[in-house]
Amino acid sequence: MARERIVSADEVVEDQLDPQSHTLRPRALDEYIGQSALVERIRIALDASRTRDEPIDHVLLHGPPGLGKTTLAHVIAAEMGSRAYVTSGPALTKAGDLVGTLTRMQPRDVLFIDEIHRLPASVEEYIYPAMEEYRVDFTVDSGMHARIVTLPLKPFTLIGATTRAGLLTQALRSRFGIAHHLDFYDDGDLERILVRAADLLSMKVADSTLTRIAGRSRGTPRVALRLLRRVRDWAAVKSGGRVDDKSVDGALELEGVDAMGLDELDRKYLTTLARQYRGGPVGLDALAATLGDDAGTLEDMVEPYLLRRGFLSRTRQGRRLTAEGAAHIGEKLIEVPGALFEE
Ligand code: ADE
Repeated sequence: MARERIVSADEVVEDQLDPQSHTLRPRALDEYIGQSALVERIRIALDASRTRDEPIDHVLLHGPPGLGKTTLAHVIAAEMGSRAYVTSGPALTKAGDLVGTLTRMQPRDVLFIDEIHRLPASVEEYIYPAMEEYRVDFTVDSGMHARIVTLPLKPFTLIGATTRAGLLTQALRSRFGIAHHLDFYDDGDLERILVRAADLLSMKVADSTLTRIAGRSRGTPRVALRLLRRVRDWAAVKSGGRVDDKSVDGALELEGVDAMGLDELDRKYLTTLARQYRGGPVGLDALAATLGDDAGTLEDMVEPYLLRRGFLSRTRQGRRLTAEGAAHIGEKLIEVPGALFEE
C-alpha cells in the first residue's frame, strides 16, 4: 500500500529510522508486556531447552501486524544468548538466499521469517529438512551430472510470522512445535507499554494522558508508540513541550485519527459500506473495488480492528455494518429486513 497511515500497524520507514524505536524494544521476556499466554508458553519452552542445551522448538506466530512478532523473535534470541536473523517470505525469492543464511547460523540462532505465507513454494521445500533434521539438500549441476549435496546445519529455531495463517500449507504449519495467535492488546497493556516508553524517552507525561493515547492505538503497540512520538512532536512545536490531553487531541486531529483510533481509511470503509451498500451484506471484493483498494490489504490492515471494535461483522453473505459501526460514523441503521440506511 503506497499510502502510509499513522495508525497503520505496518512498520513504516519512520519506525526503522527512529534510533529510539530499537531502544524501546523489550530485550528480555520479563520486559515483554501483554500476550501473557504466549509469554508463558515461550518461558516454559526456554526453561526446558536450557536444561537440555537445545534450541527451543520452531514457533509460528499469527495475528494482525504490529503486535510484536518481530520483537518477540529478538527477545527469544536474546534469552537463548544467540542472534536473530530477520528476513521475510517475499524477500526469499531464491533457495540460495535461504541456504546462505541457514548455513551461516550458529547453534541456537533464530531465523525469523516475516510474512511466511508469501514464501515461494520452491524455497519452502528447502525449509522442511532444515526444520526437521537440520540439513539442507540441494542439487548442483544439471542433467546427467546433477547430484544432491547435503549440508548439515546447526540446531536453530525458526520463527515464522504471518497475518494469514490460513494461507500456509499444511506441510509447513505442521512443522512448528509452538503455534500461537497474537491478539490485540487491551488498553491497560498498551498503557503499560506507553509508560515504559515515556520513561525510556525521559518524557514527563501524566498517566491519564497515556491512557488517552492507549485508547486511540487500536490495540497495537506499534501504533501506540508512533502516536506517542507524534504527540511529543506536536507538543514540542505547539505547547512548549508540554505533553498533556490537549496535545494528544491536537496531534491526533491533525493526523485524522478519531477518539476510537479510526483513521480516514477506516471511516471511508464504514461510510462506503453504509452508503453504497446500505450496510451490506457485501462481498469484500466489491467493497475493495469501490474503495479502490486491495482486498488483501483491507482484510489484513483495516478489518481486524473494525471487527474487534464490533463495528463490522463478517457473515456468510458478506461484510455487514453493525449498529455501533453506523453510530460511529453518524449513520442510522434502520432495523428492517435488508438493513436499509437513512441518508
Ligand atoms: N514495545 C512494543 N511492544 C512491546 C511489548 N509487548 N512489551 C513491551 N514493550 C513493547
